[in-house]
Amino acid sequence: MKLRCVLLALAGVIAFPVLAQGNLSAKQSEVMKKLLGTYAERAKVEVKSEKIRGTVSDQPFSAEAGRKFYLVRRTWQSGDYTCSGCHTEDPKKVGRHIETKQPIKPLAPIANPERFTSAPTVEANFVAHCMDLHERDCTAYEKGNIIAYLMSVR
Ligand code: HEC
Repeated sequence: MKLRCVLLALAGVIAFPVLAQGNLSAKQSEVMKKLLGTYAERAKVEVKSEKIRGTVSDQPFSAEAGRKFYLVRRTWQSGDYTCSGCHTEDPKKVGRHIETKQPIKPLAPIANPERFTSAPTVEANFVAHCMDLHERDCTAYEKGNIIAYLMSVR
């Protein structure tokens, strides 16, 4: 029953972003909505190109897929990396850079009004961190899922 409610809530986030603003600031809602639109458009193009199977899709974004992607662990010679490695498994918490040990303000928009207030900043961080972790930029589908996930964090 609880899962059902969560799924319904998530469907709401994807289908009716305007109604699902919750306690995000107007600016955060505007920027995240814009990003979801941009990534949805880009995802339609990417499905037609030769990207790695399973990383592209033009299906609606999924907060659950975004959460999985956020937690996926990649092992390189220099160690294990995940988004949650620096941003913590609960993105509402203050993170810690795995190398510099510097604190990182929470990633979840609900916990940090400065997050997701600039589309270019978000995109630049996505590219940089996707390269760090996956040695490639994330696809529009992966980015859209991450945004859907972070918007669902309450
Ligand atoms: C090695 C540490 C590290 C890893 C791993 C990491 N990040 Fe980050 N991330 C940071 C730091 C540092 C910042 C900037 C902090 C700040 O602005 O206070 C940041 C900021 C961001 C932002 C900017 C949001 C905004 O509007 O301010 C996004 C989006 C982001 N990260 C997504 C990701 C995703 C997705 C992953 C996994 C693919 C990831 N990060 C992995 C360290 C990391």
